[in-house]
Amino acid sequence: MDNMDKKGKILSGMRPTGRLHIGHLSVLENWANLQDAYQCFFFVADLHALTTAFDETENIRENIRQMLADWLAVGIDPQKSVIFRQSKIPQHAELHLLFSMITPLSWLERVPTYKDGVIQHREKGKDITTYGFLGYPLLQAADILIYRPVAVPVGEDQLPHLELCREVARRFNYMYSPVFPEPQALLAKIALLPGVDGRKMSKSYANVIELAATAQELQSGINSMVTDPARIRKTDPGHPEVCVVHKYHKIYRLEELSDLEAECKAGTIGCVACKKLLAGAMEEILAPIREKRASIISDRSYIDDILAEGTKRAAEEAAKTMDLVWPQIFKG
Ligand code: TRP
Ligand code: SF4
Repeated sequence: MDNMDKKGKILSGMRPTGRLHIGHLSVLENWANLQDAYQCFFFVADLHALTTAFDETENIRENIRQMLADWLAVGIDPQKSVIFRQSKIPQHAELHLLFSMITPLSWLERVPTYKDGVIQHREKGKDITTYGFLGYPLLQAADILIYRPVAVPVGEDQLPHLELCREVARRFNYMYSPVFPEPQALLAKIALLPGVDGRKMSKSYANVIELAATAQELQSGINSMVTDPARIRKTDPGHPEVCVVHKYHKIYRLEELSDLEAECKAGTIGCVACKKLLAGAMEEILAPIREKRASIISDRSYIDDILAEGTKRAAEEAAKTMDLVWPQIFKG
């Protein structure tokens, strides 16, 4: 489809945390599915990484490469979408600065991720009560509004940030002139996968299965999944609702789910066999991603070239917006 025929621009970003895990798969698939209907901008929020990792920047470059390999392997397509790094487009910082002039501190202080983030980091012995971290959602507002998108595909956790973004757009439009549309959230149905231990899947809990996991790593991840503790023998009746493996069956083997539940409850399938079925289904989905990823990452310049092209296109778009913005501020 020609860009002109698309419904409008959308934009989303992720902080470069390195290799993604299988919990990110549905988020990325959602992005990938939007590519034909919208003109998409997908970017690596490397400046946002600095709000918390300002003192450990040495891994960021490699993390970006690893994360982009995941994006591309899952089907984010540089022929369809603009893929770039936030820090390469200085207008994000420029617009953030202008927004900082008109944003009351109280708006930022009441964003729930601020207090939560400060507390979480304090528990790890790190103080992030910085100007930059307080401004995290305002930088995000600049990321978004500089491309004047119609919508932003995000998870529910980002809704307070999007709300702030809309408020800032409204205030700017009211104070100067209507430059920014108020973007909608595009909430996708995101499959919630727990970590192998049943807690939230998170690198910091060491309970993830990576998108890039080898067949062996996948297998050992599944082997370590927590099952129904009440089942000692395989003939004991099981309770699938308390079992991590069952939650994965729900996503990866939905069609066979009711049979599996029945067999588990009746004690006619053992957990080893049950995990084997899951492993087969997951391998079928992950093997092609793993292969594509390997070929992407083996080509040193492939990702750099995509970023260079994306930077060019994003820069054009950002410059257009700033050409509208500056005359509204310094008039005459
Ligand atoms: N805060 C987002 C996250 O943690 C990342 C992000 C930064 C973002 N800027 C954005 C997402 C702009 C959407 C739009 O996932
Ligand atoms: Fe879980 Fe499967 Fe074992 Fe039932 S049979 S407890 S669903 S692993």
